Amino acid sequence: VAPLKVGIAGLGTVGSAVVRLIEQQSRALSARCGRGVRVVAVAARSKTKKRDVDLTDIAWAKDALALANDPGIDCFVELMGGSGDPAHSAIEAALKSGKSVVTANKALIAKHGLRLAALAEQHHGALNYEAAVGAAIPVIKTLREGLAGTTINRVYGILNGTCNYILTRMEKEGLSFAECLKDAQRLGYAEADPSFDVDGHDTAQKLSILASLAFGTRVAQSAVYVEGISSIAPEDLRAAEELGYRVKLLGVAVRTSKGIEQRVHPTMVPKTSSIAQVMGVTNAVTIDGDGIPPITLVGPGAGGAATASAVVADIADVASGIRALPFGRPTAKLRATEKAPMERH
Ligand code: HSE
Repeated sequence: VAPLKVGIAGLGTVGSAVVRLIEQQSRALSARCGRGVRVVAVAARSKTKKRDVDLTDIAWAKDALALANDPGIDCFVELMGGSGDPAHSAIEAALKSGKSVVTANKALIAKHGLRLAALAEQHHGALNYEAAVGAAIPVIKTLREGLAGTTINRVYGILNGTCNYILTRMEKEGLSFAECLKDAQRLGYAEADPSFDVDGHDTAQKLSILASLAFGTRVAQSAVYVEGISSIAPEDLRAAEELGYRVKLLGVAVRTSKGIEQRVHPTMVPKTSSIAQVMGVTNAVTIDGDGIPPITLVGPGAGGAATASAVVADIADVASGIRALPFGRPTAKLRATEKAPMERH
């Protein structure tokens, strides 16, 4: 069988890590997928930027759109980010030309996911976005495939690595918010515009994707109540600690009699609870389903290597010919969540 020809748009922290991982895992991927996986072309803003990755024998496309339209590739991997163009029109073009698409772009999936999913179905391509939520944690597959037979009542967790990293270091080391954020940026965890992280919007995008899969709703970031962590100071965390609590930025989606409620806000969790033990850049997602005890997935939620792990798994699915429906058909009602009712964890 001919190898899967992959084109990658975006060679930042994640894109470079994906090129490296495909190279490192080349034999294992061939064995697992029954065919090779080869990066044949890339597109990025700068051709000359120093990157710790070997790009010999890889062609450069003029830009992301040209790469998406290139008949020489089978699978278009979008790692540029941003919910608008060029990412959006490039993904659309790739799907329309019958290619499969892999993306880590939660902003784009939260905004255009259902429409792109319809386009993927229409053109018989895959639209895989495992890396969009929880980086290396296989939470999309878990909800979409692993729990396909279970009625889910609640999904909640820590979905932003940058915020959890900041809260952890502020609490443990008494450092200022600004100092911790700077380190999160240096380590490649934060978004290009870190206000998406600290104001809770990144968590809201991820939560709306998880809720759509868990409850069969449309993806609607606008229905999520959002409050971030930027006004939290080390003293607030110390005060919480004295009372036996830790502060975590949680995303919570829950089935109610009036529809699905979704909210993101800093929450005091008892220090002894399992969610309070989740420290640093780690993410955790708990899924409460009917008739089974809660399932919790914990793992690295941001960073090049962790995100690349999920991107390469998605590419491996394309190479293997595994194609799940990107989203189910929306059936459940959403409820606009305005206030944050207190919740016990
Ligand atoms: N900025 C995101 C985070 C990256 O900190 O979680 C992973 O989606």
